[in-house]
Amino acid sequence: MPNLKIFSCRGNLPLAEKIAKNLGIPLGKLEIKNFSDGEIWVKFLDNIRGSDVYIIQPTNPPAENIMELLIAIDAARRASANKVNLVIPYFGYARQDRKDQPRVAITAKLIANILAKSGTDRIITMDLHAPQIQGFFDIPFDHIYSSAIMVDHFRKKKIPNLVVVSPDVGGINMARAYAKRLNAEICLIDKRRPKPNEVEVMNVIGDVKGKNVLIVDDIIDTAGTFTSAIRALKENGAKDIYGACTHAILSGSAYEKIESSSLKKLVVTDSIPLKQKSNKIEVITITKIFAKAIQRTFENKSISTLFDVFKS
Ligand code: R5P
Repeated sequence: MPNLKIFSCRGNLPLAEKIAKNLGIPLGKLEIKNFSDGEIWVKFLDNIRGSDVYIIQPTNPPAENIMELLIAIDAARRASANKVNLVIPYFGYARQDRKDQPRVAITAKLIANILAKSGTDRIITMDLHAPQIQGFFDIPFDHIYSSAIMVDHFRKKKIPNLVVVSPDVGGINMARAYAKRLNAEICLIDKRRPKPNEVEVMNVIGDVKGKNVLIVDDIIDTAGTFTSAIRALKENGAKDIYGACTHAILSGSAYEKIESSSLKKLVVTDSIPLKQKSNKIEVITITKIFAKAIQRTFENKSISTLFDVFKS
């Protein structure tokens, strides 16, 4: 019978430590160093021959995160691990998931190909930018949702007269899942993007006048979408505005934009470590959900209870 071993690359060590602690096993020893020019070197310090190895690493930029993971997969394979399972709290490069204009790449498929070719047996990830990215993989792929813990968090807040808002058409399924569970109405923002990371037109479809609002999104990067949505909702008479976002990428001036907005509170998960603190941002942990997914996968048990939330 193989044994369970958990390792982490350098992308989100705090989360990996919490997951290992929750499972009651020590985080395995993985040494990662850089040559003088930056080239990455990885060594498993524990014997993993015949073990089911779980490597935790988000794949957000810098590209070192992906490179580290690929090298760790190769090292695990060559060290005769029984199974190499990846726990990717945030699956980066997922926004380029189709050829939406001539002569561009489909990075989500490219990353899927590289991970599979490197010797990955299984992937567990959370809130993909587009759920159909699962189809880019021909290996077992478990897609879990943060809404289970997010919904619980907002339910406890007992916010009256609540409307759940999707800041763009692509997020409507996520918003519907929240609205259903929070017993709230739903509203949509029609967003147009002239180029990546630039938000232009925001039309609010639905009634938010005098209502409290919860904007839900899978990622906040520049916070352009999020803060433009806040402005549009305020212009349409919204009262208190809250946000729930799984992956807090928060690049460029995102923190400043959020700080200076009329947002009451943004709740994010720890799928990516925050670069700085903010009074307006509250972090809730996805430790338990990933720990459970790892434990149940290792024991060959169903993990469907962890992604029940989108079933109607
Ligand atoms: C869009 O499809 C996503 O769900 C996010 O709304 C978007 O990618 C966030 O990007 P930014 O914060 O740069 O506007």
